[in-house]
Amino acid sequence: MKRKLIVDLEPVGRRGEANEDTSLLDVAQSVGVEMASVCGGEGWCGKCRVRLISGILSPLTEDEKNAISRDDIQSGYRLACQSKPLSDVKIDIPPETLTTTQRLQLEGVGSDPYRDGFDPIVKSIDLQLNAPHLEDLESDLTRVCNGINSSGATTLHADLPVLRNLSHQLRSQAWSLRLAVFQDEIIGVFPSGSLLVGLAVDIGTTKMAAYLVNLENGETLAKGGLTNPQVVYGEDVVSRIAFANQSEENRKILQYKLVERLNELTAYLCGQAGVKQDQIVEVSVVGNTAIHHLFLGLPVRQLGEAPYIAAVSNSVHVRASDVGVFASPGAYIYMPPNIAGFVGADHVSMLLASGILAKQKAVVALDIGTNTEISLYVPTGAGSGRLLSCSCASGPAFEGAHIHDGMRAMPGAIEKVQIHEGAIRIHTIGDALPVGLCGSGILDAVAEMRRVGFLDSAGRIKKDIPGMRPTKNGGEFVLVPAGKTGHGRDVIVNRKDVNEIQLAKGAIRAGIEVLLTLTGISYEDIDEFIIAGAFGTYLDVENAVRIGMFPSISLNRFKQVGNAAGMGARLLLLSQKEREKAEQIARQVEYIELTTHLNFTNVYVDALNF
Ligand code: FES
Repeated sequence: MKRKLIVDLEPVGRRGEANEDTSLLDVAQSVGVEMASVCGGEGWCGKCRVRLISGILSPLTEDEKNAISRDDIQSGYRLACQSKPLSDVKIDIPPETLTTTQRLQLEGVGSDPYRDGFDPIVKSIDLQLNAPHLEDLESDLTRVCNGINSSGATTLHADLPVLRNLSHQLRSQAWSLRLAVFQDEIIGVFPSGSLLVGLAVDIGTTKMAAYLVNLENGETLAKGGLTNPQVVYGEDVVSRIAFANQSEENRKILQYKLVERLNELTAYLCGQAGVKQDQIVEVSVVGNTAIHHLFLGLPVRQLGEAPYIAAVSNSVHVRASDVGVFASPGAYIYMPPNIAGFVGADHVSMLLASGILAKQKAVVALDIGTNTEISLYVPTGAGSGRLLSCSCASGPAFEGAHIHDGMRAMPGAIEKVQIHEGAIRIHTIGDALPVGLCGSGILDAVAEMRRVGFLDSAGRIKKDIPGMRPTKNGGEFVLVPAGKTGHGRDVIVNRKDVNEIQLAKGAIRAGIEVLLTLTGISYEDIDEFIIAGAFGTYLDVENAVRIGMFPSISLNRFKQVGNAAGMGARLLLLSQKEREKAEQIARQVEYIELTTHLNFTNVYVDALNF
């Protein structure tokens, strides 16, 4: 029998076991260490770089020779998805490869999630019942229902998850109880005075955020975020759909990993708030359409193929236990409607939080990611208006992917760049030594290079500038030399990086332009320009305007609102009216499929230049 090989993963200090057929990426995943893996382990993205500290690995593959420079190969760098241990090994995972510590944007900015009309859909009813005796032989459920009816409520019912515990709870609580009631169903039985809690969840492609809310006063009791554990199976939804389509088992893994991580996060938040997980009586979950489907365990094959059809677009109500989410046994999960295959419930939630349907003037609202969802609301009078939404493939550049030295927003990522009189100033997350560029950093670098004339209008790096090195692919600009970085290698911006930013900003700008054209207004009519999401929180708006990603309107019309989708998820728990509004938003949206819009390609090509 073959001996199991030991794989030590540093600096995280985890140990895994492997045989000679197990890749280092597999080992890392098996012990919960998450590495960047844009291509899902196919060997072409180069993001899963690790360094061999000791031991023997399988011979270099062609993919590794293509993805890693000769110098770095000499220094022991390998691709984790391509290399397999042939002995016990010790591996160093550099910060740009580790995905566990990325910066998370939890809070929305500038508004209170507890609005007028606090009216959660789950209500509490307190009861003090008489114990049964030989002349009062009503069943336990009938006793509860009659007790409620005597307080004026309508007839209720209870389902199996509640009935299983009801008799014991009534007796152990001396017939004094607090019920959680959803419409006409008893969904939870608790000791008198128990706090009823809601859980709001925003699941992004790379991050998830969760909020515990007090259903009696709307207060947020605890909040926290983690990396979406599906990241190790592919960084964008397209890779994950491809992974899920490989086998039924894979699809189940994506569902299980997501729910497992959510349960861990919820347990942590409950500990922070001093409540038990079974006090959670309702859960709202928002995410893009692919994440929504993977969370519910729905098929995603049809989402990955034209015409990209969602399995369900209506709102969904399912028992939390059916999905595996730990909560009160009778608790439900509410997920608002999806708009289309690439405009999901998270966008609805963001639009809800921004109060877009109540606006009196034209508003653009967008959430930038691998796919950027863009909406334009144009009031038409008498409290109504047109709401158009589209999705554009802006690519993963703003997540740091497909960029030579790109990385997620983690310590050591350059997030700000200024070029002043030839001197380059940078700021990194956590003030750590620079090891790469996150989305806001690469956007800044490109905008600054253009501002000081290092780039021409087509995005070519000029030849005669200090720090420019010629390459056969259009040159590269050394942003931080090796001696000043955390990993001892130059951090550079090359022609391909600039091109990636051009493609991303061109797609976003073209999406905006098409919506403006369809409503017959010009960008000067945009009164408010809402930018949501983590990347949108940190990007420099002036630079985004400078490179043409956003139209040139007064900077004070831009509003960076943080995690508005998370705020919307809380509203969905706290107010029935807000829930109705979410449904209204989804009904009112005119979804625009950009690829079928006659003029899209021309607008896109025009938007590529600086
Ligand atoms: Fe390893 Fe892509 S090259 S995950």
